[in-house]
Amino acid sequence: MALPQAPARRFASDNAAGAHPAVMDALLRCNDGHQLAYGADDYTLQAESAFNGLFDRDVVTRFVYGGTGANVFALACMLQPAQAVICTDWSHITVDETGAPERLLGAKLIDLPSPNAKLVPNQIRDQAHLLGSEHHVQPGVVSLTQATELGTLYTAEEVTEICKVAHEMGMLVHMDGARIAHATAALGGTRDALRAFTCDAGVDVLTFGGMKAGGVFGEAVIFFNRPLADRSKYIRKQLTQLHSKMRFISAQYLALLNDDLFISLGRQSNSGAARLYEKLHHLDSLNLVSPPAANSLFPTLSPADKQALQDWSFFWDWDEKAGQVRWMTGWDVTDGDVDQFAAGVLEQLNKRI
Ligand SMILES: Cc1ncc(COP(=O)(O)O)c(C=O)c1O
Repeated sequence: MALPQAPARRFASDNAAGAHPAVMDALLRCNDGHQLAYGADDYTLQAESAFNGLFDRDVVTRFVYGGTGANVFALACMLQPAQAVICTDWSHITVDETGAPERLLGAKLIDLPSPNAKLVPNQIRDQAHLLGSEHHVQPGVVSLTQATELGTLYTAEEVTEICKVAHEMGMLVHMDGARIAHATAALGGTRDALRAFTCDAGVDVLTFGGMKAGGVFGEAVIFFNRPLADRSKYIRKQLTQLHSKMRFISAQYLALLNDDLFISLGRQSNSGAARLYEKLHHLDSLNLVSPPAANSLFPTLSPADKQALQDWSFFWDWDEKAGQVRWMTGWDVTDGDVDQFAAGVLEQLNKRI
């Protein structure tokens, strides 16, 4: 029997989704008239104030072009010469940024092994032997990803503990929040929940991702530790992350923060992954051992099933040797998409029973 109609590419990536209509409307609306460039426009001022409201404190917000640029820029504002960044060996900054941090920061990334893409406090403590020796790079920043590259989450308590250890050791904490919307939705779905695992936990600088939650382009870097932003305007320009027509980034964030739209879209994305898990986890061969914490599943497939399903509705390989793939949902995933996809997977796998 042929596979059912394909929900084409709906499970490839949250980056494969288009933009939310409210974001597109905001882009169209902000297109009217002339505004001052480089962030001196009304939309940027409003968006900065919206971020102050979101975090319920005066933060410094800097808009940049993309996620890799946001991470490199944030870290550039945090690092001193001869310092290094501690992260996991799954971190986007070490795996998926083409060496941009190393090249542009001239800094070493100490990427520690982690089966679930999360750092634990003892791994950070274990780096203490480097501190104070002129022959060793000096750990200066701990970088956490939330939600992680493996779709896992740090609880607010875990982030708090990591920040405490890092600060006691004289380090700062950066959070790569490319999927901050998904993490917020999963950890309580409120502004309080977001604050609990970011500023209240002691994070110094946050990369606040909008693209995977319905944006078109542009990310926000939020400095809770305001002195770290002192040179940020120069550093942003030097790292080629200053957008002249900044209103087109800021307007998107105004739309995403309005009525906490980003949280609703993160929730939608997460619930699609949860529904897919519910429909398929009984199939032992997929090895879906626990429900997704955010918006991705990492099942295993035989080479033949993988090929047939990728030809039908494309998704990415994750660990080719282990036969593991990634199914990831976007903000626009519907129950119908999930049901269609699950039906296709069941159909394909049943052929082999
Ligand atoms: C964890 C994480 N950080 C950062 C990014 C941003 O990357 P980009 O430079 O492609 O926007 C991504 C995108 O996939 C990501 O998954």
